[in-house]
Amino acid sequence: MAQSVLCISCPNGISEAIGEALRQAGTTGIWEVSQREWRAFFNGEDGEIAAAVLRLNPEAVLRWETHEPVDWVARYQASLRALPVGRRFVILPSPDMENPWPGRIPLQLVPGMAFGTGEHFTTASCLRALETLPQVPPSVFDLGCGTGILSAAAWKLGARRVLACDVDPEACAVSRETARVNATPFEIVEGSADGVDERFSCIFANILAQTLVELMPVIRKCMLTGGALIGSGILVELGEEVLNAASLQGLRLIQRRTDGEWWTFLWRTS
Ligand SMILES: C[S@@+](CC[C@H](N)C(=O)[O-])C[C@H]1O[C@@H](n2cnc3c(N)ncnc32)[C@H](O)[C@@H]1O
Repeated sequence: MAQSVLCISCPNGISEAIGEALRQAGTTGIWEVSQREWRAFFNGEDGEIAAAVLRLNPEAVLRWETHEPVDWVARYQASLRALPVGRRFVILPSPDMENPWPGRIPLQLVPGMAFGTGEHFTTASCLRALETLPQVPPSVFDLGCGTGILSAAAWKLGARRVLACDVDPEACAVSRETARVNATPFEIVEGSADGVDERFSCIFANILAQTLVELMPVIRKCMLTGGALIGSGILVELGEEVLNAASLQGLRLIQRRTDGEWWTFLWRTS
């Protein structure tokens, strides 16, 4: 069925009262194009809706349009592309997508609100840093796991003790699903590094710079001798602060990567 769209434009801004009136009139969705221009979707035109908007704002300019229905899910699915990352990995944005690069290790994403689709520099550069380690780390701690994509990658490379944690329960739920669809049974706990009493050969910490600085002493305690820390999510202007915090813990900087906005650092215990 075609959709009726009420195009509303108010030079003096659109108030929340209009939003409420549209909802009461049964809108199926509102697109806030700007503070002065909205589109409200309905199953048919109704002059009373326009009249109600005009009563609330006599300066409103209104126009009805008819749109053919769009299958947004199909459009979204068609827009999804496999994403090669580094030399070894390819990220498949939906679990049923075939791997167009059979020579690369597939990492399947699951739908969810958690951060970590691989498109962001901070995630991709963690995967690149992982690839540069001289050997596959036997044990990995993914601090702030988001979707769990880094944990799945570490497991698929050959790590057999992988612990992921996140303070966000939604991220933990998405990570559990990531572990399932990738057949990478890493452990997921809700919480942060201070609840972890274990040492690892590699730690990912793609969290914000300030969190990294605060957690640096705790992270250091979770590193095995000779272990690696891959720290990311660090805005360039905060890089020095994080480097100082790592240096205070006796960590040696091995690599640095940037896209001009973010840093990813790789340290080792000395
Ligand atoms: C930028 S995302 C990174 C996700 C994923 N590791 C990646 O590289 O794509 C940061 C994640 O860290 C989590 N986080 C933030 N502060 C944290 C903390 N103190 N302890 C554990 N997780 C934390 C957030 O909930 C978020 O999911």
